[in-house]
Amino acid sequence: MSNGSELNTADRNTTERLRTELAKVVGSTQVLSEQHMVTGYVTDWTGAWSGWTRAVVRPGTVGEVRQVVSLCREAEVPIVAQGGNTGLVGGSVPHHGEVVLSLRRLTRLDPIETISGQVTAGAGVTIAALRDHARRSGFEYGVDLASRDSATVGGTIATNAGGIRVIANGDTRRQVLGLEVVLADGNVVSRLAGIEKDSAGFDLSQLFVGSEGTLGVITAARLRLSPRVGGERHVVLLGVSHPSDGLGLRGSDVTALEFLSHSCLAVVTEHLGRSLPAVGEHPYYVLVESSRLPDLDPSTDALIDTRLWEFREAITETLSAGGVPHKFDVGVPLPRLDEFVADLEQLDGEVFVFGHLAEGNCHVNVRGPADYETVADRVLGLVVEYGGTVASEHGIGVAKGRWLHLTTSPEERDAIRRIKHALDPHRILNPAVTFAPAG
Ligand code: FAD
Ligand code: MLT
Ligand code: ZN
Repeated sequence: MSNGSELNTADRNTTERLRTELAKVVGSTQVLSEQHMVTGYVTDWTGAWSGWTRAVVRPGTVGEVRQVVSLCREAEVPIVAQGGNTGLVGGSVPHHGEVVLSLRRLTRLDPIETISGQVTAGAGVTIAALRDHARRSGFEYGVDLASRDSATVGGTIATNAGGIRVIANGDTRRQVLGLEVVLADGNVVSRLAGIEKDSAGFDLSQLFVGSEGTLGVITAARLRLSPRVGGERHVVLLGVSHPSDGLGLRGSDVTALEFLSHSCLAVVTEHLGRSLPAVGEHPYYVLVESSRLPDLDPSTDALIDTRLWEFREAITETLSAGGVPHKFDVGVPLPRLDEFVADLEQLDGEVFVFGHLAEGNCHVNVRGPADYETVADRVLGLVVEYGGTVASEHGIGVAKGRWLHLTTSPEERDAIRRIKHALDPHRILNPAVTFAPAG
C-alpha cells in the first residue's frame, strides 16, 4: 500500500497546510496522519481494499464538517466520508490520498418523539445504539444487520442498507423522513422536521439515500420508528431442496426470512466449533423468525431455537476468516431464484450462497481459483441473464462500477453523471466511487 510518499513538493506543502488548517477547526487530536494511527481507517472490513490518506479528520459538529469540506475543496483534496467502515464494496476507504472524513463523533441522539414515533440521530450513531435508544422508549428501528455494533446511521443511509428486517419494514430508504447534509460547496441542506407528507419541492433527502458519499456528507437523519411488538419470537431453521421452498412461510407474523446453502452451514459450524444443527443434510436451509410458530409439514427437518441466528450471522466473518472471498451481493427475480442458485453451484471453486430470501437478495461468495474480475464477469453476467441487479444492498463502491452498465441504461448513467456534476462539479466527494463510469 503506497503511503503517498510519491507526493511532490508542492503537493506535500498543500497537505501540510491543509492538516494545519484542519487542526484549527477540529483540534489537533482529531487530525491523524501517522501511519499507525490511520491503519483502521484506510483498509476496509474485508481487507480487500486499502489505500493511503493525506489525513483522517474527525469533526464533532455539523459546523466543523462544513469547514472541513470547504478547506478540502479549496485545497482541491478529495474526501471520503466514513462511518463504521463496515462497507463491503471498497467505498468507505481512501484510494489515492483522499482525506478520510470520519463521522463517528456525530453521535447526537435526540429524545424519541413518542407522539409521531420519530427520532433525530447523528450520522455517527451506530445501529445498535439507535436500536437500544428506541427500545428504551418502547419503539423499534426498522433496520437491523449483523454489523450493527459498528455500522452507523450515516453509512447505512449512504448505502441504503437492507439487512434482516426488510421483509417486515423495508430497507433504510423507508425509514428516512429527512436528512441534514453538507454539500460539496459547504452549504447545508436540512429537512429534519419529520413531516410525514411533504411535497414542497424535490425530495432531496431521498436523493442522498444510497449515494455512497458521492453527492454530500450526511450529518443527521430524521428516522421513522415503529412501536415495539411484545411477545415471543420463534426462530426456526429448516432443511429445504430449493431456496424458494421457504417463500411459503411469508406472512404478516414473519419478521425475518433468510436462506443459506449447505456449504455455508458446514463452514460456519466448523468456524464456531459447534456441531451441525440437527436439521439433516439438505442442499439449502431457511431461517424464519415469526411471532407465530409456522405450520410445517410433519416430515420437515426443522429445529426451533432463537440461538440459530448465530449460524446465519456468523457467515460473513467466517468466510472472511479464511482469506478474502470474491463477494457478490445480487438480486434476482423470485421466480428465477432456484435456477440462478443452481447455476451458481456450477462455478469453479468453493461457492457459498446465502441471503435475504423474500427479496431474492443473494450473497454469493466464491473462494478461488480464478481472480475477482473473471469470477465477477461470470456471476454478474449470470445475474443479467436472469434479469437481476448487480448490487442489491451493499452498493457499488469501487467493486462493482465496472459491471454497472450491465443493469443500468446509458440514459440512466448520463442522468447520474449530470446530477453528480451539478452537486459536486470538482469531484471532491468520494471520486473513486463512480455510478456512471465513462462510456
Ligand atoms: P462505511 O462502511 O463507513 O461507509 C459505507 C459507504 O457510505 C461509503 O461509500 C462511505 O463513503 C459512505 N458514507 C459513510 N458515512 C457517510 C455519511 N455520513 N455521509 C455520506 N456518506 C457516508 N449491509 C447490508 O445492507 N445488509 C446486511 O445484512 C449487512 N450485513 C453485514 C454484516 C457484516 C458482518 C458486515 C461486516 C457488513 C454487513 N453489511 C450489510 C455491510 C455494511 O454494514 C453496510 O454497507 C453499512 O451500511 C455500512 O455502514 P458503515 O457506517 O460501516 O459505513
Ligand atoms: C449479510 O447479509 O450477512 C451481509 O449482507 C454480509 C455479507 O453479504 O457478507
Ligand atoms: Zn445481507
